[in-house]
Amino acid sequence: MLAYIDTNCIVHCLDMATEAKLHFMETFEAVILQPRQLEYKLQFTGPTGTNAVEAALKIARQKTGRTNIICFTNAFHGVTAGAVAATGNGKFRQATGMPLGNTTFMPYCGYFGKDVDTLAQLEQLLDDRSSGIDKPAAVLLETVQGEGGVNAATVRWLRRLREICRERDILMIVDDIQVGCGRTGQFFSFELACIEPDIVTLSKSLSGYGLPMSLVLLKPDVDIWEPAAHNGTFRGNNLAFVTATQALLSYWQDPHFSRSVFSRGTEIYDRLQAWSEEYPHVKAVRSRGMIAGLVMDSAASADAISEACFRAGLIIETCGPAGEVIKLLPPLTITSEELEEGLSIIERAIIDSTSRRRKASH
Ligand SMILES: Cc1ncc(COP(=O)(O)O)c(C=O)c1O
Repeated sequence: MLAYIDTNCIVHCLDMATEAKLHFMETFEAVILQPRQLEYKLQFTGPTGTNAVEAALKIARQKTGRTNIICFTNAFHGVTAGAVAATGNGKFRQATGMPLGNTTFMPYCGYFGKDVDTLAQLEQLLDDRSSGIDKPAAVLLETVQGEGGVNAATVRWLRRLREICRERDILMIVDDIQVGCGRTGQFFSFELACIEPDIVTLSKSLSGYGLPMSLVLLKPDVDIWEPAAHNGTFRGNNLAFVTATQALLSYWQDPHFSRSVFSRGTEIYDRLQAWSEEYPHVKAVRSRGMIAGLVMDSAASADAISEACFRAGLIIETCGPAGEVIKLLPPLTITSEELEEGLSIIERAIIDSTSRRRKASH
């Protein structure tokens, strides 16, 4: 990026063509899409994730002429009106200050426990013309719900959902804003299930350097946009194009990178699993690749641990319906030593909170 700036380059020019943009598009095509035999058109939206979701929902509705969107319990897709209508959390929904509509919530994979087949319910409701559910334009989902508590859908569930959509001419939108770009081990989180969504949203770590950038991938026949129908001033952050291109070239050309995410992910999982056996207020561990959730017995426990970590120099967030899950999202490039340091801080915080509890109960 510094070298680019040094060339007296274009930083901002709305969504117009630049060399930096072209280079990103060619690199994304060559490094990500072609090796996976994926055919998508690229749409650059406003730079927040929620704006990419808005674009995805709009085009799905335009393409099908339907308004309803199926979304899932505990989903998080952003806080602008269209995306928040597909977000489960009451706090974000209420903040909108108006009724939210044109979405129908269905139970996510495992929502009623592992013995309840939530897709059988979805299928029956979709096929019953008297269920009260309007035929949707699209199904919008995260393959691993990040804000919702690190809930990972099974491969079987994802594959069957793909079939349900295909059979009924419903578009499938995968929101890969949090768990795409390698978080789960492969570049796209849906690769594990060998499925191809009709629309994919990407953002967050896409630029590789924390610069604002969002992207919507559209199957060619879905791209029926009129020029500038979803416009916005910041659809072409050239500095982000430069850093995103560099991230693709530096990490994604080498299969070793993906393997290292998987093996780091296993290291993290093993460590967390050991804690869940040792410390009684750690109730369960959820993980996929390098996203992991430590399910605590209460939101208060999770908060206390997050605060103790912060005081010790580690920022760690909580998530889940009540904030009861501690979410680990380390950089994919973290070294073993850094990972060890971070995990030790978390474990220390757990041990301290365990001993405080013991004292309080005496
Ligand atoms: C899955 C998912 N979609 C959309 C968003 C919204 O992105 P942004 O905060 O950039 O609007 C987020 C943010 O956490 C997210 O996790």
